[in-house]
Amino acid sequence: MAAKQVKSRQRVADHGEVFTAEREVKAMCDLVKQETERIDSRFLEPACGDGNFLAEILTRKLAVVTRKYRKSAYDWERYSLLALGSIYGIDILADNAQACRDRLFGIWNKEYVAVCKNDSNDQTKDSARYILLHNIVCGNALTLMQVDEEQQDTKNPIVFSEWTFPFNDAQMHRKDYTMAELLSASEQTEEIKKTGQLSFFADENGEIEPTFLKEYIAHYRRLSENG
Ligand SMILES: C[S@@+](CC[C@H](N)C(=O)[O-])C[C@H]1O[C@@H](n2cnc3c(N)ncnc32)[C@H](O)[C@@H]1O
Repeated sequence: MAAKQVKSRQRVADHGEVFTAEREVKAMCDLVKQETERIDSRFLEPACGDGNFLAEILTRKLAVVTRKYRKSAYDWERYSLLALGSIYGIDILADNAQACRDRLFGIWNKEYVAVCKNDSNDQTKDSARYILLHNIVCGNALTLMQVDEEQQDTKNPIVFSEWTFPFNDAQMHRKDYTMAELLSASEQTEEIKKTGQLSFFADENGEIEPTFLKEYIAHYRRLSENG
């Protein structure tokens, strides 16, 4: 049965909440097919609802993880967490942000248990939930601030984490950036590329590195120990 595109008239009027149909989601993802099938390519859905685009992208990435790494639970776990860590969402409604996290966890967990069977464990599942808690934010994509249950801006900016395996072992690295800083660095890089002007702050490729807030490193099965 097709998913409902509207939950209530009030929500459409208040927040423009109309969900994209699966056929359109797939067609739009096909426009950047190669990127949707690259395990660590980053995607942000800035008004994600319950994650129609992120769900499709995660499904495609996990299919690649399974094709390449199904023989080793260790590899499947690491690469699937990398896939999960590369997708980001924002929604102003707390129930949507939570529905999105639950939906993405469901997709990841179903594949995990099917592929890794008896090797699947609660620690890795907790790490998957932990990544989703950080990557799917309840916030206002226009003001770049986190919001409360009444959709009012709090004092906390939207912060996104970059998740990587820098040493290609079990240690997962997390670096936190405000979304405002990420956007500003990206705009400055665009400007440099457009005008050809050199900047003291740019790297050798003319790219401005955003400044991060904090960084952490932990075993991928114990991500939540970093607070
Ligand atoms: C048109 S729906 C799209 C949902 C999903 N992206 C899709 O295509 O199915 C818009 C979503 O944006 C959210 N939203 C509205 N204003 C927002 C804002 N300023 N910041 C973040 N999310 C917002 C709504 O709660 C709603 O879930």
